[in-house]
Amino acid sequence: MKVDVIILAAGQGTRMRSALPKVLHPLAGKSMLSHVIGTARQLQDAQLHIVIGHGAEQVRAEDSSADIQFAIQSEQLGTGHAVQQALPNLRSDSIAIVLYGDVPLIQTKTLQRLVELAAQGSLALLTAVFADPSGYGRIIRDSNNKVSEIVEQKDANTEQLKVTEVNTGFMALPGKLLSELLPQLSNDNAQKEYYLTDLISLCAGSGVNIETVQPQDLAEVQGVNSRSQLVELERIYQQQQAEQLLQQGVTVLDPKRFDLRGSLRCGQDTTIDVNCVFEGRCELGDGVYVEPNVILINSRIGNNVVIKANSVIEDAVVEDHANIGPFARLRPGSVLREGAKVGNFVEMKKSELGKGSKVNHLSYVGDSQIGEQCNVGAGTITCNYDGANKHKTVLGDRVFIGSNSTLVAPLEIKADGFVGAGSTITKTIDNEQLAIGRGKQRNIDGWKRPSKDK
Ligand code: UD1
Ligand code: CA
Repeated sequence: MKVDVIILAAGQGTRMRSALPKVLHPLAGKSMLSHVIGTARQLQDAQLHIVIGHGAEQVRAEDSSADIQFAIQSEQLGTGHAVQQALPNLRSDSIAIVLYGDVPLIQTKTLQRLVELAAQGSLALLTAVFADPSGYGRIIRDSNNKVSEIVEQKDANTEQLKVTEVNTGFMALPGKLLSELLPQLSNDNAQKEYYLTDLISLCAGSGVNIETVQPQDLAEVQGVNSRSQLVELERIYQQQQAEQLLQQGVTVLDPKRFDLRGSLRCGQDTTIDVNCVFEGRCELGDGVYVEPNVILINSRIGNNVVIKANSVIEDAVVEDHANIGPFARLRPGSVLREGAKVGNFVEMKKSELGKGSKVNHLSYVGDSQIGEQCNVGAGTITCNYDGANKHKTVLGDRVFIGSNSTLVAPLEIKADGFVGAGSTITKTIDNEQLAIGRGKQRNIDGWKRPSKDK
């Protein structure tokens, strides 16, 4: 079944008070529009038609994939007029379904139910019952309980205003029917707009069957007009993601304080403590413990790793049994081999730390290759940058670096090399050599402290 998905995204979103077009505002790290696009793409044989107007060029730049066609609505004359702009691009034998760029949590399953009904020749409407229906179009049914029309709030009489079944805006129907009916819309109503909802009475009048479907979850049809509605949906969405992880065997200690802005694959018996943020593509193995306030971006973490509080990890690979933080920063290109340890206030960049090696305190390790079972003492700094170029530091296995040492790259310290504390090292150290590069200590006898002038 061919499906032409029409996504309305021309509105201005005045109440967002923003320079950014409303549909580009992010929810869980990606725009509302891209959530809708992603959901629409799950439909079989779908082609997407996005109606743009306000901020058209910015919205167009959001996704230039081949399965998307844009239609410009230069004046916002109503939802019916908006759909009409996409009409020339529809395929003749398709089902048309209307979605909204500012209703981001709609589910593919729900859309599929609408498409299936439309495939049987019906017009399928997604409706919902709201305790407070104000602002929405009301679903009017005849004596046989069949839908006869939708009346907008501003056009409704007192009786109609009491109806609590509302139009969510989502509908599906055969594309051919849509093309026949759209040109018949008029703007003879309270808002002088071409209402898409007038298709319902046109269908009812010409004997087209009208079916209604309800969403499984009301959040699916919640639209965003303001920032408070946006953050409300953000929390609902995050709680749904946390719930999925809980079902997969991951403990998310507080689903209300969990944020995933991308994808997270997790093994079993992994625990995520409060206030962690995951961005991009992340993976956590089995038995991982992530302490509070950790930020993980595009990184792969092995089994039984402990990430202590307040660590920030980006584009890194961490193997089994490694230990990170608290307050560690792993920048892009950091690789921790099995059982490696990076402690507090350590920054690593484009560096590999070998099996069982440790950098436990207050260090900067950049552009380095560190072998197995090394110990890099507190306060050690690799001087990888000479003001113009970056240089490498290479440490063999079992190297020991005394605390507060300065390793001036390019530099090689071969296996079992040993550096005395407080050294500045500029030359290669051979296997099993001890290097000390610091001023010699002098002790002066009979030293008198300076005293204050009288
Ligand atoms: C519409 C429905 C109403 C329904 C409600 C659900 C109509 C006439 N009414 O009302 O029955 O209960 O949605 O939220 O359809 N848009 C355009 N171009 C336009 C007008 C609108 O792209 O010319 C887009 C808007 O950006 C928005 C969506 O269509 O994303 C809905 O438009 P809006 O003006 O909010 O419709 P409502 O009056 O809320
Ligand atoms: Ca609306």
